[in-house]
This record gives sequence, C-alpha cells and structure tokens, in this order.
Amino acid sequence: MKVFLKTYGCQMNERDSEIIISMMMQEGYTSVQSYEEASLIIFNTCSVRKHAEDRVWGKLAELKRLKIDRNDIVIGLVGCMGKAYGKEIFKKLVHVDFVCGPANIYDIPSLVDRVISGENHITAIKKTKRPIKKEGTLHSSGPIRAFVNITEGCDNFCSYCIVPYVRGREISRPQKDIIDEIKQLVDNGAKEVTLLGQNVNSYGKDKDFIKLLEKTNKIEGLKRIRFMTSHPKDAGIRLFKAMAGLDKVCEHLHLPMQSGSGRILKLMNRGYTSSHYLELIDDMRKAVPDCAITTDIIVGFPSESEKDFKDTYEIMKRIEFDSAFIFKYSPRPFTKASQMDDDVSMEAKKERNQVLLHLQDEISRKKHELLIGKTENVLGLSVAKKKPDSSSNLSATYIKTRTRKNYQLVCKGDKQLIGTIFDVKVKDVQGNTLIGNIV
Ligand code: 5AD
Ligand code: SF4
Repeated sequence: MKVFLKTYGCQMNERDSEIIISMMMQEGYTSVQSYEEASLIIFNTCSVRKHAEDRVWGKLAELKRLKIDRNDIVIGLVGCMGKAYGKEIFKKLVHVDFVCGPANIYDIPSLVDRVISGENHITAIKKTKRPIKKEGTLHSSGPIRAFVNITEGCDNFCSYCIVPYVRGREISRPQKDIIDEIKQLVDNGAKEVTLLGQNVNSYGKDKDFIKLLEKTNKIEGLKRIRFMTSHPKDAGIRLFKAMAGLDKVCEHLHLPMQSGSGRILKLMNRGYTSSHYLELIDDMRKAVPDCAITTDIIVGFPSESEKDFKDTYEIMKRIEFDSAFIFKYSPRPFTKASQMDDDVSMEAKKERNQVLLHLQDEISRKKHELLIGKTENVLGLSVAKKKPDSSSNLSATYIKTRTRKNYQLVCKGDKQLIGTIFDVKVKDVQGNTLIGNIV
C-alpha cells in the first residue's frame, strides 16, 4: 500500500501533510514520490488565493485517465478547498473518492477504509474546530527543523481572507502537549522548531505566547526557535523584548503588513493603522537591532487607488523588509471583500505587483550584500545539489544552511555538519543565497 501526497499552500498545510502521512504510515502505507506508483493519492489543498485553487483543479483533472485505467486507486482531496467546496468537488471531478476539510484531518484513515470497502463520494467537512489531539507521534522521522502547531484556525476575519471559514475558529493546543512534542522531536534529532499558527500572538488568548516561548527556550538540546505568523494588532514590545532576551529565539519576525494605506487597512479589517505598524517596526528594531523582518502584501484590494498603492510603496521603501511576499488580490468565497466590487483591473494588479517586486528585489540584494565579510551562525541542513557558483570545486561537498535571520547560505563542508551549528564568513551572494567559508 503506497500513498502519494501533494501539498499546496502554507506551512500549516506542510505540517498537516506530515500528520496525514504519519497517520497513513501507522495504517501500513509507505510514502512514494510519484502518483503512478501509488494506490492512494491525496491532494492537500489551499484556498487562500484563486491561483492556488486553479492549479489543483487542473492537476486533479489530469488524474481522471489514471482512475479509468486503474479503478483500484483511491483519490482524496483534503484541506481548505475540501471545506470550501464540499460535494461540489464531485461535480467537477467525478473521479475523486473523498473530500475532507482541515478540521476533519484525523478522519482521513477511516475515509480511506470506507472507500476501499466500496463507498464513494464521501465528505467529512462538518467540523468547525479541529479536535485537540496529541500530535507528538505524527512527525516524519528525524527532521532537523520541525514544525509544531500551537494554534489551529483563526478568529480575525480579515475581509479578504477565507481562512476563518475553512480552517475554523481559533483553538490553542495545551502548553504541555506542545512542550512534550518538542522534547520528543529533540530526542529524535531536531535542532530547530517553528511554532505555527495563523496568529501565534493570540495563543492562549490570555497572551501566554511569551510564556510558551520561555518554556520552549529551556528545552535542552534544542538550538533554535522560530514562530509564524505574527499579527501586528497582537504583537508588541513584550514580544520583542522576549525575543531579545531568549537566546534560542532567532532574529526573524514575519509580520504581514498587507497594505501601507490606512484606508485599505481599515477595509481589510486588520485592526491597526500604518503608523502603528511603523511604530512596531521601530520598537522591534530597538529591541533586537539586527533582526530580519519579512512581510506579506496584497495589491489591488477593492478600491485601491494609485495613492493607496503609493502609500504601500513608500512604506516598504522606508521599512526595507528583508523579504516580502507580494500577492495580487483575488476575491474568495464567503469573505466580506468578495461582496465588494473587484474594481482594480488585472492589468493594474500585475503592474503594481511588478513595481513592488522590483523594489523588494533591490532592497533584498542590498541586504544580502551588506552581509559580505560578516560572520553568520548557521544550522547545517542538507547537501546542496547544485554547486553555488562557477568557481566552485566540482569534487567538493557543499552544505545548505540557514542563518539565524533565516537567510539561505551555502558553504563547502562535510556531511557531518548537517544538524550542527557553526560559523561561516560570508564571501559572496548568488541570487538570494549567501556563499561563505567555514571559520
Ligand atoms: N487575495 C490575495 N492574497 C491573499 N492573501 C490572503 N487572502 C488573499 C486574497 N484573497 C495573502 C495575505 C496573507 C497570505 C497568506 O496570503 O497576504 O498574509
Ligand atoms: Fe486570514 Fe487575517 Fe486570519 Fe491571517 S489573520 S489567516 S490573513 S483572517
């Protein structure tokens, strides 16, 4: 019994896929890398932007032929599109056997069993909250960097965002479960953990995210802590000071700004102004001077004018993010913004997207170049498949690493460096990759 699983979307989905694969392995499946080999094919899907959905519709349509030729394969569509479209999916894709939403993820093994026993077109999408479950055993074996869910779902209802409708209301996992899970991961060789949630700062509601960071920081053998995503309305000086004081917490904050226009932020229901966002960045940089800050931006939200866009451009130029994900707005089912007129033309969205990408490229290049000559503390992750540049020694081994600020860095070195922390002096930059020599 072989399972092929394809993942779309965010790190939350990556983590869910790991849970799904681990559950199926407990059922006796082995994981394979191509769907031709598999008896079970699962697509773990994303609905956050229309583009992500279009790719899934297209890819799954391609499997129709396979299902006609080999009637014994089971095909499942799980994740956010499952919840968003439910039974509708079977109308477009008759060859899909089951559909499952994110809150029903633990039902997947029984859904597969039911299909194997002859049922067809089954849905499991009713749950609005994922049951709190110990996920400690549901990890791939021996990851150096591990992801751990701390919350599931979202209560923020940003007007453009489908997440609260498909991932359900926010729940926080008990602190003890999280800490036990991280300890177990560290026992199995993990050196870095990323605490995951749609809005990690509201973990536990009573703001005990910082306590969770403090507890995590005490775990022996763990070297690095990251977390994402932070929400500007819930992040603040307490968090930044904690980041400064906790030695394992890496100097990187992902803080989605979405827009630099106060008017658009209000329409987006983000709960902060652009001047508040700027204050946060100042506070963060005061607390942790050498901190990488990354962001998400949406261009072309309904009614976004040239002036609103200019505000975003100016604020990005002023802040100088280390990197930014820039998205073209697309209306999503169920959301408030989908009732507004999607009145920014695709042409204008594309152009604004290009302008910001270009600005960010320049800033990112400058930030990378500023690191030349500096010594960075890195975690060795894997052997680099490609040699970093034309002057590389073809017979040498190169190691892919990450700096504490989460920059990718490649250096010549031994396989034994994988899973260890060491210092590298940066000597060059290739695209978005730093190149260096071990010191
Ligand atoms: N259109 C475009 N981008 C979106 N995002 C969320 N919803 C939409 C949408 N409807 C972006 C936001 C969010 C990131 C994960 O995806 O920037 O932070
Ligand atoms: Fe979506 Fe806003 Fe929740 Fe992020 S915080 S998942 S953008 S609703």
